[in-house]
Amino acid sequence: MQKPLDQARLCRLSTEFGTPLWLYDAAVIRARIAALRAFDHIRFAQKACSNTHILRLMREEGVVVDAVSPGEIARALVAGFSSKNGKSEIVFTADLATEETLDLVVREEIPMNAGSIDMLRQLGAKAPGHRVWLRINPGFGHGHSNKTNTGGEHSKHGIWHTDLPAALAVIAQYGLKLVGLHMHIGSGVDYGHLQQVCGAMVQLVKDAGQDIEAISAGGGLSIPYREDDAQIDTAHYFGLWDAARKEVEAHLGHPVKLEIEPGRYLVAESGLLLSEVRATKDVGSNHFVLVDAGFTELVRPSMYGSYHAISVLPRDGSDVAKRPLRDSVVAGPLCESGDVFTQAEGGVVETRSLPAAEVGDLLVLHDTGAYGASMSSNYNSRPLIAEVLLEGEAAKLIRRRQTMDELLALEA
Ligand code: LLP
Repeated sequence: MQKPLDQARLCRLSTEFGTPLWLYDAAVIRARIAALRAFDHIRFAQKACSNTHILRLMREEGVVVDAVSPGEIARALVAGFSSKNGKSEIVFTADLATEETLDLVVREEIPMNAGSIDMLRQLGAKAPGHRVWLRINPGFGHGHSNKTNTGGEHSKHGIWHTDLPAALAVIAQYGLKLVGLHMHIGSGVDYGHLQQVCGAMVQLVKDAGQDIEAISAGGGLSIPYREDDAQIDTAHYFGLWDAARKEVEAHLGHPVKLEIEPGRYLVAESGLLLSEVRATKDVGSNHFVLVDAGFTELVRPSMYGSYHAISVLPRDGSDVAKRPLRDSVVAGPLCESGDVFTQAEGGVVETRSLPAAEVGDLLVLHDTGAYGASMSSNYNSRPLIAEVLLEGEAAKLIRRRQTMDELLALEA
């Protein structure tokens, strides 16, 4: 949602670091972590924002990480996380992995959150005794888009709930060590169904009939992208999961750790994408505002029809509220019609009522700290842009802009 912005500071940052630019506010990340402290472990789904400086910040705050690829494992290691000697600071979640990836997981002693029985077999054959979680698909899911719903029969994720006995048999066959049960049923979850999810977890633990140390609530916590979206009540969220944990503890007869694995919730609202208006034009009845960021940077609107609040900031310090409002289509520089930030799911171009933007103005896309930089691409041969972390008054460049030489280096 639209938040108050420090116009003068954003202008200075745009001059210092150039546009387009990712900005993150460390204070917002710390506040979101604080709101989840009741959980025993907060495991950051780093796919949302995998910059190693953000990962270090998480580590300083006692947050642990999830990794879903060798690249994410490498980032976690660089940021100082380790799962050696019985620690579980990194967990590797996957439905499939290459032999090389499994070797890395074994070498680094990283518990695997297995989303298929084949993963258990392949890992078990390499490393009997390795620690595993079972990621279960409970047969239902939710998400802000069909593309982010990870439960139910259309989803490739997780071990189908009726296959739990088969998975346990493979664990026994290879002497794997079952740590816990995990469920992530989608991103942007509908809280009306939370009780159903918690109930499914309790039932799974009972069905499994095995001792476990922990359960994971997965991620999926939504954030207020629109003005009338509510901020999640984390105390209520924790309360429901804690009640499920207590049922599990009563069943097993010992304490059980409760993990949560959010990506978006921890970082989305900390982030802004700062761009510059480079052209405006009327196309029939549509007024286009063209900015220097595109779906190479922020793909969520093109991919899911996601909504991001937009602010226009004149660089001369003048008050944008004095400008007339204009129904505008905000689009980027890519040579592709779908490069539009104001669009609904299915690619329907929409207009947004914005202060009339002029060439040279800054245009801010809000709530882009999650699935922004981490989903960027080099399409149209555009170099990756810079990322800056704000800590109070300090602004730290945490990723410099990619150079053209770097862009071409692999083809040398
Ligand atoms: N755990 C697992 C196993 C996941 O697959 C995911 C997200 C998460 C945790 C974190 O979900 P979150 O708390 O961030 O909702 N690119 C999409 C989101 C895809 C999420 C994929 N998995 C977007 O921009 O909305």
